[in-house]
Amino acid sequence: MSNFPKDFLWGGAIAANQAEGAWNIGGKGLSVADVAKYRPELDVKDYVSQWHVTPEQIKEGMQTEDVVYWPKRRGIDFYHRYKEDLTLFKELGIKCLRTSIAWTRIFPNGIEEEPNTEGINFYVNLFKEMERNEIEPVVTLSHYEMPLYLVNHYDGWVSRDVISMFERFVKVCVDNFGQYINYWLTFNEIDSVFRHPFTTVGVVEEKYESKKEAEAAIYQALHHQFIASSLATKYIHETLPNAKVGAMLTRTLAYPLNSNPEDVALAQRHNRENYFYSDVQVFGEYPQFMKKYFEDEKIEIKQLSGDEEILKQHTVDFVSFSYYMSMIKTVNEKDMEKVGGNLITSVKNPYLETSAWGWQVDPVGLRISLIDLYDRYHLPLFIVENGIGSIDEFVDGTVHDDYRIDYFKQHFKEIDRAISEGVEVIGYTSWGIIDIVSASTSQMSKRYGFIYVDADDLGNGSYDRYKKDSFHWYKKVIETNGRSLYLN
Ligand code: BG6
Repeated sequence: MSNFPKDFLWGGAIAANQAEGAWNIGGKGLSVADVAKYRPELDVKDYVSQWHVTPEQIKEGMQTEDVVYWPKRRGIDFYHRYKEDLTLFKELGIKCLRTSIAWTRIFPNGIEEEPNTEGINFYVNLFKEMERNEIEPVVTLSHYEMPLYLVNHYDGWVSRDVISMFERFVKVCVDNFGQYINYWLTFNEIDSVFRHPFTTVGVVEEKYESKKEAEAAIYQALHHQFIASSLATKYIHETLPNAKVGAMLTRTLAYPLNSNPEDVALAQRHNRENYFYSDVQVFGEYPQFMKKYFEDEKIEIKQLSGDEEILKQHTVDFVSFSYYMSMIKTVNEKDMEKVGGNLITSVKNPYLETSAWGWQVDPVGLRISLIDLYDRYHLPLFIVENGIGSIDEFVDGTVHDDYRIDYFKQHFKEIDRAISEGVEVIGYTSWGIIDIVSASTSQMSKRYGFIYVDADDLGNGSYDRYKKDSFHWYKKVIETNGRSLYLN
């Protein structure tokens, strides 16, 4: 028995900057992703250093045409191979594909008055091809790929001017691609502004004199993204009556280490801080605890008189989130064993296994997250990222990835269980449906896909695509709408 609704959107996800490649083709400008260098000397579990981009690295990236050590410039060449990939996705049976629109294909520097026609044509063709394959697009408007020009000349989202540039970009997307798109997400993992500010809001921390100043700048930039998100929601709602707009949160679920009330309080605090971002987008206002925090810390966010109204009036229709792992909170963290992951580092949970990159695999945590989010927001939920980065061994034209099948099986059963407990889940897009360049480490060898791409960390390989064992397994899950999870 499975409880997935009849019209459940089974799918997969990628992002433009990790998949398309073609970084300097079709009039595209440089984005923040294009200056992220592959740095094999860093520990892959050191999430913070992996993401951090210094002013020197920005300069170095701007001065080189290299694609070997700047892997996001080559991606998996989805730009040229999307037709072949969509044919494979269709065979896999997915109902939807989540991808993003590279802002720099439409407005190369973000400041132009007129959009780049070649960029528009690329996406029109992509969405038409998706329509032909009966694959519903789920589109992220901003997925870690803002124009680098805006970082260098405007301090990124700290500048209020960026809101109107983003609005212009959104308008072009809605006007040109709107007829194909029913599901929109505004900012990918909007809560990641403090985990990697350069990639998300274009803040270069070295430009600020103190940590405190950088923190205030990030909150200012975040405020501008909240406003931009609401204005995008407004425009989509006004222009496309059937379209739905979602918030997109990294669900960074925290557990207390044990029943020590102080640990429980610490975990509660972490979870509340994580919900802050979706709270603003769902409830249309800053939560009281954040207002209090700004007051205590003397952080003054510059707002215009209409801002409160904009946030209040244009809230989201659903909540989407990524879920990879859970973490542990304790007041005695100092002496505990640590693990890596997309939540920086956490105390090791003795009940959970970790991935090769140190991420704690926790399927039950997905059920807990779904139930908590639904109870909090009473809005439909969409899991738009979940998956495991693994080292795959390519043998005889395929990969025998039982570990991936096992991972997904456990997570799908927990989604099913949450649905059986009354949670409304509209869809699921695995991250990434096909191997792509890793966002944090820029590696190709950190593979998430059901489809293997023949390319290594330095870009050697044919870039040909091959179905892994998990491809056939996922196909069956989709075909049976989850019932196959319970067979044998
Ligand atoms: C999410 C991002 O944080 O995690 C994706 O939205 C990213 O862009 C995914 O790829 C997995 O992280 P990584 O670093 O393993 O690619």
